[in-house]
Amino acid sequence: MSAERVAICPGSFDPITLGHDDIIRRSFRMADRVIVAVAYSATQVKSGMFTVEERVEMIRDTFADEPRVQPMSFQGLLVDFARAQGASLIVRGLRAVSDFEYEFQMALMNRRLWDGMETVFLAPDLEHSYLSSSLVRQIAQLGGDVSPFVPANVLARLRHRFPPAAEAGQSTSTAPQAAGMIKDSILRAYEDRWVGVLLQANARLREHPGVVDAVLSFREDAGGLRPLFLVHARERGPASDADLRDYAGRDLPSEVPPPEIHFVDHLPALHAA
Ligand code: PNS
Repeated sequence: MSAERVAICPGSFDPITLGHDDIIRRSFRMADRVIVAVAYSATQVKSGMFTVEERVEMIRDTFADEPRVQPMSFQGLLVDFARAQGASLIVRGLRAVSDFEYEFQMALMNRRLWDGMETVFLAPDLEHSYLSSSLVRQIAQLGGDVSPFVPANVLARLRHRFPPAAEAGQSTSTAPQAAGMIKDSILRAYEDRWVGVLLQANARLREHPGVVDAVLSFREDAGGLRPLFLVHARERGPASDADLRDYAGRDLPSEVPPPEIHFVDHLPALHAA
């Protein structure tokens, strides 16, 4: 009898999306069992939206129909965890060219750390190619509809935490008026064709090593709605304000007004609490 093929699909999964779901189910073409491994690090500066335990629970609920998926969490190096679990294949989804550099670097480093490990990249269904957990978190926080992007159990949790815009509007919210105004501008801007592009730029900015967190917002002036990134920067470190400004505005289409960056010590809660 041939040995069981065990693959590991590691990630932050904060939260799991339909893009992850798609990649994990595809990996059964190469593996008999797939460990879906939530990584957490005691040194991580960015605090997640969900705890590691909640992320594992969401994965468990998502794959309640699939006994070959084993949700777990791990600390430390992925290669050490994989070796201990008898997994020699890492499966990662590759959405776009922008993912490639980071993924390639990790794959080579992991193989350098443990030669018994290979990484394979799977292309997601086209409909999931722009999906990321960070965009889902932002859209949910801003009262947008994330139902096309996440499994039903995740949607229920997000709706509980961030009631949809219509419900939040009806509630007797005590959120500061300023936050309410920002939220209204954003919701209006959702109609606009370039908001998706700005959300992607903001997601990229949040991944910058000099940034703790960033929120896409808008400022209204005589010229209309201007995009604005509110950035909580990490000790500015090697990234100067000008670097971050360039980074945030990079690759935006020319019709998008150049975004402003405001550096803040605390990011406002943009959703009605
Ligand atoms: O979903 P993400 O955040 O892109 O996943 C990144 C993850 C968890 C796969 C990566 O950060 C990781 O493997 N972390 C564990 C620590 C480790 O082994 N780091 C060295 C990677 S070369």
